[in-house]
Amino acid sequence: MLSFSVIAIALAAATSTMAHPAAKLSARTTPGPWCDGLGAGAFDTASGFTIAALNTTGANSNSTGAPIVVNSAGSFSDITVWQLGTWAQYQYPLEYTSIALENGTLVISGDGAPPAQADPVDAGNSLEWASRPGADPKNGAQVYCAVPDATGSGYPVLAVNGDADSFSLCQLTFENVVWYKAAPNRGYHFDTCYPVKLQLIF
Ligand SMILES: *[C@@H]1O[C@H](CO)[C@@H](O)[C@H](O)[C@H]1NC(C)=O
Ligand SMILES: *[C@@H]1O[C@H](CO)[C@@H](O)[C@H](O)[C@H]1NC(C)=O
Ligand SMILES: *[C@@H]1O[C@H](CO)[C@@H](O)[C@H](O)[C@H]1NC(C)=O
Repeated sequence: MLSFSVIAIALAAATSTMAHPAAKLSARTTPGPWCDGLGAGAFDTASGFTIAALNTTGANSNSTGAPIVVNSAGSFSDITVWQLGTWAQYQYPLEYTSIALENGTLVISGDGAPPAQADPVDAGNSLEWASRPGADPKNGAQVYCAVPDATGSGYPVLAVNGDADSFSLCQLTFENVVWYKAAPNRGYHFDTCYPVKLQLIF
């Protein structure tokens, strides 16, 4: 499975090398500091994947896990916040239908969806984007990286802040959302949390 992403990265690098000679190739093949400590195979640029949450303690109905999509987390003034949650509990049409890893940030996009920028991810919080006037997806927080086959299932997994092992799914009233270092008293039902790996399904 990794070979797909490696090929994609190689192709992207080759294409950009043609357009802008030199430089970009090494930028794509050597990931940034947001991949530090995650091993030699870690990569920070990839597309053509979906995300699935693999339950690491309980039963899974298959080796990929529950499909994860971009959920709405609410709006205030001219900002709308988005976060990752399960597709199974999301009751609205998807605004952002695609997710890509670009130089350490996660870029979400969709037909007609407003530009959104990834926010830094703190302990106890969800993985968030904000769409607002002037948002630039490529200037989102550079905190994401992918680690090849960390679960033995053949899929790379997502890491944030150099950590691929601290994601959980926890219940909100109407959404089942991904949290980083889930903690009590943060607005979600902590007693419903269970640990997951976020697999990138190519
Ligand atoms: C995941 O495993 C936990 C046990 O750790 C269980 O409570 C939960 O229902 C499981 N989730 C799914 C979606 O199977
Ligand atoms: C894997 O299981 C989840 C439920 O945990 C389901 O939503 C998903 O569609 C399944 N994926 C495949 C490829 O069957
Ligand atoms: C990746 O991000 C770094 C740091 O923000 C920047 O210096 C570099 O030019 C970016 N590389 C690419 C290929 O966009």
